[in-house]
Amino acid sequence: MKALFVTSECYPLVKTGGLADVVGALPLALAATGVEAKVLLPAYPGVREQLRGSRKVASLPGMFGGDAALVGGTTADGLAVLLLDAPHLYARKGGGPYLGPDGHDWPDNHLRFGALSWVGAQVALGRVLSWRPDLVHLHDWQAALTAAYLHFAKEPAPPSLLTIHNLAFQGVFGADLLPALRLPASALAVDGMEYWGSLSFLKAGVQWCDHLSTVSPTYAREILTPDQGMGFDGLLRVRSHHLTGIVNGIDDRVWNPATDTHLAASYSARRLPAKATNKAALQVELGLHVRVDVPLFCVVSRLTTQKGLDMLLAELPGLMARGAQLAVLGAGEAWMEADFRAAARQYPGQVAVVVGYDEPLSHRLQAGSDAIVVPSRFEPCGLTQLYGLRYGTLPVVARVGGLADTVIDANEAALRDGVATGFQFSPVEAAQLGVALHRACDLFADTLAWQRMQKRAMTREVGWGVAAGGYLTLYERLLASTERPA
Ligand code: ADP
Ligand code: GLC
Repeated sequence: MKALFVTSECYPLVKTGGLADVVGALPLALAATGVEAKVLLPAYPGVREQLRGSRKVASLPGMFGGDAALVGGTTADGLAVLLLDAPHLYARKGGGPYLGPDGHDWPDNHLRFGALSWVGAQVALGRVLSWRPDLVHLHDWQAALTAAYLHFAKEPAPPSLLTIHNLAFQGVFGADLLPALRLPASALAVDGMEYWGSLSFLKAGVQWCDHLSTVSPTYAREILTPDQGMGFDGLLRVRSHHLTGIVNGIDDRVWNPATDTHLAASYSARRLPAKATNKAALQVELGLHVRVDVPLFCVVSRLTTQKGLDMLLAELPGLMARGAQLAVLGAGEAWMEADFRAAARQYPGQVAVVVGYDEPLSHRLQAGSDAIVVPSRFEPCGLTQLYGLRYGTLPVVARVGGLADTVIDANEAALRDGVATGFQFSPVEAAQLGVALHRACDLFADTLAWQRMQKRAMTREVGWGVAAGGYLTLYERLLASTERPA
């Protein structure tokens, strides 16, 4: 089976969050099941240079305001990549794939991702390459318009699956931009991609994809409710029989404490004492007091309202009073960055904050910390708690979305039965986070119980095997079925 992934991010080529990790790993896991996948993404600056054997495979003249080409190549891990090389859209220096140098969205993001989606559809229809996919797998709003182009092409097209990694990002633009996107006026209907007088790329995907998935079963249920549906719950309820939740896996070659080259010392569940070397090294690196006897909590996250870290700031005095430490790596909203910096000044030696994006440091934090805090208000899946499990860094999480599906709370029953892997709190409010943090501190004081939980967490199945099987089943169902919308 041949599958085309359409995406705006892919690890290790370009990454702002979990989407990149998923798209970088899932096709490789699927390869083991016999799926031949290619990943289509924009040729942002510096991306082509990371590919092996890159060469132009097709010309694409008149591509949304300029000429473009399709470039093929592979990553060091053997992932087959197609780059949409359109210099007028992507060869720009900005703040990552979506933002200009001023930190705001590029004003022509509708064209940048409309073009990506358009090319996705052309490849799917066999108009560009001799390689033609049996199925297209679209990721988030940036790729969702592919479904609209396939719908309006009015010719046989391969089935499409849209994975919603985060419903908060809906790709909403002015309705007047429709002609520039090469879509007919009829697309702008209530049962099309019209969204409160504007147009939404994500809505196009939800309407016209054959099947929808999201990245955990709990989030798949949550988004059907007005509370978590972000305005899309009605639409999604209509399509709920074509919506599947599959929990993400993690890439074991990138996230494995036994082989991770970023660490001061490698370790595993059997060689757990070596984790202490990483803790000491991290404390030295970040200017924290070097102490084994106090719990070191960490955060690796975008600093946005979604991630609920304002609640952690609110609970900080109580945590500090217990002598615990906190190390934060993140970037995002300016006020939150400033508040965390202020916390580091207020608690020298106890709180360390690094504002920015730093992949190697994120590995050292996972290895050197005792626990990782993920107090998200909503979390489609979440990957950092999975890395935490793998690294014996016990997750303290809000009981929402994928966090609810991947962490087993250390309640009395779970401790007695020997199945607990972390700490959950609910409802998602600061005081309850505080309770969970104190429960973690209490358990940390019981060294043997803590180590038992670490070993259990580290040996939990968090790789891509299960999820790849889930996607394969879905792909096969899609190829066999007629579940296409009219
Ligand atoms: P989301 O995609 O919503 O940001 P996930 O937990 O799914 O959340 O994925 C976040 C990914 O981005 C993880 O791989 C995490 O390690 C990484 N990450 C987030 N912030 C940073 C940062 N400041 N520096 C390095 N890696 C980061
Ligand atoms: C999104 C979600 C996150 C998920 C990631 C990968 O960024 O916010 O929860 O893990 O996508 O699917």
